Amino acid sequence: MSNNVRPANMERITTPALANKFIEEQLAALRAQIGNKKVLLALSGGVDSSVVAALLIKAVGKQLVCVHVNHGLLRKGEPEQVIKVFREEMNANLVYVDAVDRFLDKLAGVAEPERKRKVIGAEFIRVFEEEARKLEGIEFLAQGTIYPDILESGPVKAHHNVGGLPEDLKFELVEPLKFLFKDEVRVVGEALGLPKNMVYRQPFPGPGLGVRCLGAITRDRLEAVRESDAILREEFAKNGLEGKVWQYFTLIPDFKSTGVKENVRAYEWPVIIRAVNTKDAMTATVEDIPFPLLQHITARITSEVKGVNRVLYDLTPKPTGTIEWE
Ligand code: XMP
Repeated sequence: MSNNVRPANMERITTPALANKFIEEQLAALRAQIGNKKVLLALSGGVDSSVVAALLIKAVGKQLVCVHVNHGLLRKGEPEQVIKVFREEMNANLVYVDAVDRFLDKLAGVAEPERKRKVIGAEFIRVFEEEARKLEGIEFLAQGTIYPDILESGPVKAHHNVGGLPEDLKFELVEPLKFLFKDEVRVVGEALGLPKNMVYRQPFPGPGLGVRCLGAITRDRLEAVRESDAILREEFAKNGLEGKVWQYFTLIPDFKSTGVKENVRAYEWPVIIRAVNTKDAMTATVEDIPFPLLQHITARITSEVKGVNRVLYDLTPKPTGTIEWE
């Protein structure tokens, strides 16, 4: 049975020097565990799976096979960044799976939030399983499990946990980050040379934009969520809010309202902005965004995003509102 308690004498990794020491120890341990065998990793592009990938590339190079599933619910530019960083810059063995149509077809007409999560999770395992079956000689499965996942064992790491694989695909687990807290994972990621914007990314739910395109997902509304989210992120970065605000994003409800664009009635969707600060995601406060910035973001979204005629700012702390709307 694997030990799941962080050793009492384990030093907290707070500096590049401590990160390098951890990396050296892990490289030796990973090489000893994996030998000349192959290891598989579902690489979402999130902090944890990216750091695991970077460690394993260093440890065993092309014996690592990364599978990046694009389920169509990622933020703008994310699949491209995964390909650029891992395939082009780190020379990783990366299988890119374009599963956008599959996911969106399965999700068509599914409106209930928990049902949407289940459809996304189940389809993810199915796609990953299909890819795993195409590969030969895999003996290990790497996962970006971190210590809070073990302590909480909540649903938060659903997208990393491919433990739902069928019996004949039960690989031996490789979990090099399982005793690290998030801040330590980030220090290690930086020491491994991953881009800062990947290492210091805000949290992003496993079901991705799927829970921000409220109700039954449609392609046009999903595209509008993706575009408005990209504008929000760009403006937050330009105005010094990236890295300062804990989580920020846009969402679109499934109703329209009357507006006017270029003197013509425009019956279109509203975009809602959410920007919150928290320590542990159990409670959250709303960021006090400067009003002129909100006005500027509103002007950009209503002029640049197709099908949107209003922008609203969610002023609700948690409680009573959760951070996500679904
Ligand atoms: P709530 O909405 O419950 O969110 O206040 C708390 C934090 O959890 C994230 N979240 C999820 N993460 N899968 C995930 O991996 C999910 O289904 C999920 N739902 C919410 C949310 O983004 C926030 O950071």
